[in-house]
Amino acid sequence: MTTPLKARVVLDRDFTIGAVDPRLFGCFVEHLGRCVYGGIYEPGHPRADARGFRQDVLELVRELNIPVMRYPGGNFVSGYNWEDGVGPREQRPRRQELAWRSIESNAFGTNEFMEWCKAAGTAPMMAVNLGTRGPEEARQLVEYCNFPGGTRLSDLRRSHGHPDPHNVKLWCLGNEADGPWQIGAKTATEYGRAAAETAKAMKWADPTIELVACGSSNRGMSTFGAWEAEVLEHTFDHVDYISLHTYYSNAADDLPAFLAKPDEMGDFIREVIATADYVAAKRRSTKRIQLSFDEWNVWYHSHGKDRAIPSWKEAQPFLEDVYTMEDALVVGGMLITLLNHADRVRIACLAQLVNVIAPMMTRAGGGVWRQTSFFPFAQASALGRGVVLRQAVSSPTYDVKGKRSDVPYLASACVLDPATGGVTLFAVNRAPSQPLQLEVDLRAFPEMKVADWSVLRHDNLKATNTEGSQPVQPMKAQGASFAQGRLSAALPPLSWNVLRLAPSGVQ
Ligand code: AHR
Repeated sequence: MTTPLKARVVLDRDFTIGAVDPRLFGCFVEHLGRCVYGGIYEPGHPRADARGFRQDVLELVRELNIPVMRYPGGNFVSGYNWEDGVGPREQRPRRQELAWRSIESNAFGTNEFMEWCKAAGTAPMMAVNLGTRGPEEARQLVEYCNFPGGTRLSDLRRSHGHPDPHNVKLWCLGNEADGPWQIGAKTATEYGRAAAETAKAMKWADPTIELVACGSSNRGMSTFGAWEAEVLEHTFDHVDYISLHTYYSNAADDLPAFLAKPDEMGDFIREVIATADYVAAKRRSTKRIQLSFDEWNVWYHSHGKDRAIPSWKEAQPFLEDVYTMEDALVVGGMLITLLNHADRVRIACLAQLVNVIAPMMTRAGGGVWRQTSFFPFAQASALGRGVVLRQAVSSPTYDVKGKRSDVPYLASACVLDPATGGVTLFAVNRAPSQPLQLEVDLRAFPEMKVADWSVLRHDNLKATNTEGSQPVQPMKAQGASFAQGRLSAALPPLSWNVLRLAPSGVQ
């Protein structure tokens, strides 16, 4: 019999981190591989509607309840001419797409995406091209999308069958502009100036929009920190958010290190907050630049395979990571980190939605299925809305040799639903072989009961889901109890847990 480890969390309903912006559960659709073509859009598929939108995919997208969807890239946007993707399909050009060495047919473009968003119950988050283009083309796209009518571009939209403006509220000023892999990569000064001028023109075209400036492509960039500071020096007065991107890998097959990655994500977030607030301090400004974590996920399984995929074809199977049980634990941990920084991270986009490093996969002409990572995202999106509570946590810890010390075995976030008074606890037990006996002290709450406990775990950490077989899925767990203001539950080793507490007398 293994001795359980013990962890304790103390909560008080008046001690909060902040209200969750629903856009924390955003996602991302890029013209990359089979995300658009063969993912959300597959004309001729038995489940596609007249517009080519796969209804089976839409059903799973709705299950994820995604409030915002970033589009059309990613690296793709830095070479994209939005005009190629609007108007009569037969007149749209086929182009060499440099970011992913593909052929872009432009059969799917801005208007199709807007229609798809409506069908999916989500709002668009559009990115403009600041790689090969600049302020004028970005401003024109705002006019095309958001101006009601009576101008050349708004009337062009109307002539394309969209009499009502799309009213796109959220826009990204380019993508990963610091990355040498990006078409039109820039120094921080070059990008900061371009982003500021583009932001001005876009907001003059529609003052109701919100803008995201590019932060570093990832925390490992040599210019990280300096980039954010310089970009915000130029754009501070014109933008609302700075972006963060990160992808984690277990290529080294070092599970303890991999499971600690969500804590690294927390360091990254706090460093960007500090940098943004440093720029505010220099101006004695009370304005706070918020964070848009608009690309995050696990990504590494497909790296090798992708190198063998021939270039200059349409919808090649790029970035088709097949996620394992252990990947789902890291995705769950990353969701916990995002929730625990909900006061400053207002937007986050799981990258991406379907087929491309995605929570769901499709087969051409065939089915759609949920990857392991689908479940933590779906559960956090469903139950992680409300107010995040500040936790006082004590947990046993472990060290990741040479990298990180004192990693708590318990990773957790607690969300209060002010409407019902219920509390949901999201928790990962990172201990490799021991249960974690968790006690949550809710002394300042009324008497509660355990409404539900769901656990995601599998004896085989490399287990995956495939079409027609879903060995990794959440199961109802028993044995959690609530007495005298305390929740008690033994979290299984290497598990993702969702524990729902409801005030006694409420279902
Ligand atoms: O999401 C895949 C790619 O990762 C995106 O196109 C790019 O922005 C990032 O490097």
